[in-house]
Amino acid sequence: MDQQSVYKAETDFQEILRTPHRLFGYTYLYFLAVLAVIGILYVNNLNPVGNNRVLPVVLKDSSAFVLEIPYQSPGVLPPVDVRAASVPSDAMLTRGREVYRANCASCHGDNGQGDGPAGLVLNPKPRNFHSAEGWTNGAKISQIYRTLQDGIVRNGMASYAYLPPSDRFALIHLIRKFNPVPPMDSEPELMDLETVYQLSKGSVIAAQIPIREAERRVLAEHSGDVIAAAQRYKRFEESDDPAAALFARVTANPERALTALQSATSRTGTLDEFIRFVTPDPVQLGFRASVNQLDRESWEMLYQFVRRVML
Ligand code: HEC
Repeated sequence: MDQQSVYKAETDFQEILRTPHRLFGYTYLYFLAVLAVIGILYVNNLNPVGNNRVLPVVLKDSSAFVLEIPYQSPGVLPPVDVRAASVPSDAMLTRGREVYRANCASCHGDNGQGDGPAGLVLNPKPRNFHSAEGWTNGAKISQIYRTLQDGIVRNGMASYAYLPPSDRFALIHLIRKFNPVPPMDSEPELMDLETVYQLSKGSVIAAQIPIREAERRVLAEHSGDVIAAAQRYKRFEESDDPAAALFARVTANPERALTALQSATSRTGTLDEFIRFVTPDPVQLGFRASVNQLDRESWEMLYQFVRRVML
């Protein structure tokens, strides 16, 4: 065989094109394989496809950078005279600096340049108070007051409505000190603050405790039951009860699931209530997202098991 005929024998595409069924003969195996894979995937996921059910996505907690809310006693805040409060004084600026350091510097930076460490990830960036440009609500006293009252939540600026009005005016004057040419409010704009927020009447503030503390207290209230339930669960887990195996399979964190259920016994009295309690956010409750794929029979089994463990 000379060189040329070897070459010809290896790559005779023309020959193949003349008899296309041979091409098919080579490739249909691949089609078959691909079809088989798609088929297997489809059959394995028939349940979610058939029910048109999408597993819940676990979102990252985008509010994680927000500071914990502080302890606060209930009380009535002294009335504020808008006209007097709109004139900066040294005492206000000193107070403003204190409140600013504690609440704002993390994002807006120590000197108000919008370069605080917690603000780096935000888009838009925290306002640089030295610049007169690009304010969303504006740099007038009345406009900043509104920003602090309502926040600009869509852009990552929280509401500071829990700060007493006098502290808010202190902050406003401090922020405006950074501005080379702070815009002035007209008399009606200032008086609008009084009309809208009734500052001369004083404001009532409700008592509050930090969220973590509230969680801890709720848990402590139930801790006896939770420990007892955890001990009973351990015994079930060691036996080879199929319901215990099911519970273990659908929970990522069994203790957490038991704790959540224990503190919600009044909301999980029937099977349907139980399902409604778990399904919206199973992961948060210590379950796995796959719990939402259970059929009703398995839910029933899970429910009965939970009732046995909780007593
Ligand atoms: C978690 C970060 C963060 C903290 C803490 C924070 N801010 Fe902001 N702030 C922002 C962001 C982001 C913007 C930009 C919003 C925009 O562009 O609309 C902003 C904007 C502002 C503005 C300008 C609003 C406008 O009209 O453009 C003011 C005024 C302001 N903040 C004051 C404060 C004060 C006072 C505090 C403390 C009590 C504070 N901020 C705490 C993130 C923060």
